[in-house]
Amino acid sequence: MDKVALITGITGQDGSYLTELLLQKGYSVHGIVRRSSVFTTERIDHLYRDRHEDDVRLHLHYGDLLDAISLRRTIGEVKPTEVYNLAAQSHVRTSFDQPVYTAEVIALGTLHLLEAIRDYRDTQQRDVRFYQASSSEMFGRVKETPQSETTPFYPRSPYACAKVHAHWQTINHREAYDLFATTGILFNHESPRRGETFVTRKITRAAARIKLGLQSELYLGNLDAKRDWGFTGDYVQAMWLMLQQDEPDDYVIATGQCHTVREFLIEAFNHLGLEIERYVRFDPRYLRPTEVDLLQGDARKARERLGWTPTVTMPQLCRMMVDADLKLAEQERALVNAGHCIPQPCESIESQFGPSIIGAPPVREPIPVGP
Ligand code: NAP
Ligand code: GDD
Repeated sequence: MDKVALITGITGQDGSYLTELLLQKGYSVHGIVRRSSVFTTERIDHLYRDRHEDDVRLHLHYGDLLDAISLRRTIGEVKPTEVYNLAAQSHVRTSFDQPVYTAEVIALGTLHLLEAIRDYRDTQQRDVRFYQASSSEMFGRVKETPQSETTPFYPRSPYACAKVHAHWQTINHREAYDLFATTGILFNHESPRRGETFVTRKITRAAARIKLGLQSELYLGNLDAKRDWGFTGDYVQAMWLMLQQDEPDDYVIATGQCHTVREFLIEAFNHLGLEIERYVRFDPRYLRPTEVDLLQGDARKARERLGWTPTVTMPQLCRMMVDADLKLAEQERALVNAGHCIPQPCESIESQFGPSIIGAPPVREPIPVGP
């Protein structure tokens, strides 16, 4: 049978890497895209071909996780053999500003999709495999380290609470309706295509811009948080492998190594020979009302059952991202030199949003960088 994948969240970081992988594997790939006043397809533009050409295997459909009818219609038209649910309001800090919206998209949106798939399978008698993008954020105030599939959840943000709902709803559909519904509990994964307001990309983008004189300061929050950072290219392989198994299940995907935000910052700035004390400042706006202090995953089950292993360490990942952002900054520098205006980086624009959840004005203290 022809392999047909439907991806929600195709315009996001993970969606773009997964689309590349599935096209390489010969799939037809369909993606659901939200209507916006500007096109949001930048991360997949290099994969898109005009529909009048031969052998076009990437197709986009307008839709939204909040629009159950559009999901049902698209599934009926596309007839997917695999559905990857990657769509989410995925920013943890933003989920404190928009808790209801975050819960609607992640929790109810996933339920809309599961129900649409169940009905499609039952009425059309076609098998569909479902992947849910669960998150290490669900472990929150961790009960044990490292965290595995059996570690209890203690969510610490509206985002994480919604992800716990979607996770258990997926398992319930598996158990109640015998749906092939699998969850991947993925730890933080990054790449040059990472959204610019997540801490790794914020750091690498700023380091490159500072190096080329396009920016003079970088404001950050809690540098002591520890994360288990891997490379997105490795993690989408795991998603695909999960749907190729005989039985649906739940898998932790992680490198097993954890580092502080400070260590990532030092790695990035050292790579470009920049002094942190000179450029990096603390701003309480970037603190969270409840923080997740430590995430470190135990991906033994994925290694043993899927044969999956990560290939990129944190320092390699950091340098990959800095190098990519340096190329981007060089293009920006050339435009500025030619007298053009360039857009502000997303992170700078986001800092205008308020009020701060902590209620404190931005401060300009140099950041302490000792390990
Ligand atoms: P991302 O870059 O923020 O992408 C999110 C995607 O969801 C975008 O394509 C976005 O569309 C889409 N989306 C948002 N709201 C939607 C809605 N209402 N209807 C339809 N689409 C909507 O996130 P990511 O890093 O690729 O992560 C992918 C998934 O994995 C997310 O569910 C995330 O929560 C989860 N996850 C990520 C990590 C990680 O470290 N990256 C770890 C664990 C789990 P627009 O382009 O229009 O905004
Ligand atoms: N974003 C951001 N901006 N985070 C900062 C900053 C800052 O200026 N300064 C310090 N941090 C700290 C945060 O407090 C957090 O402890 C850590 O850096 C990582 O923050 P993010 O990069 O925003 O990622 P996250 O861990 O909150 O969430 C990501 O990973 C989850 C998996 O564990 C997202 O991709 C989620 O969607 C994903 O589920």
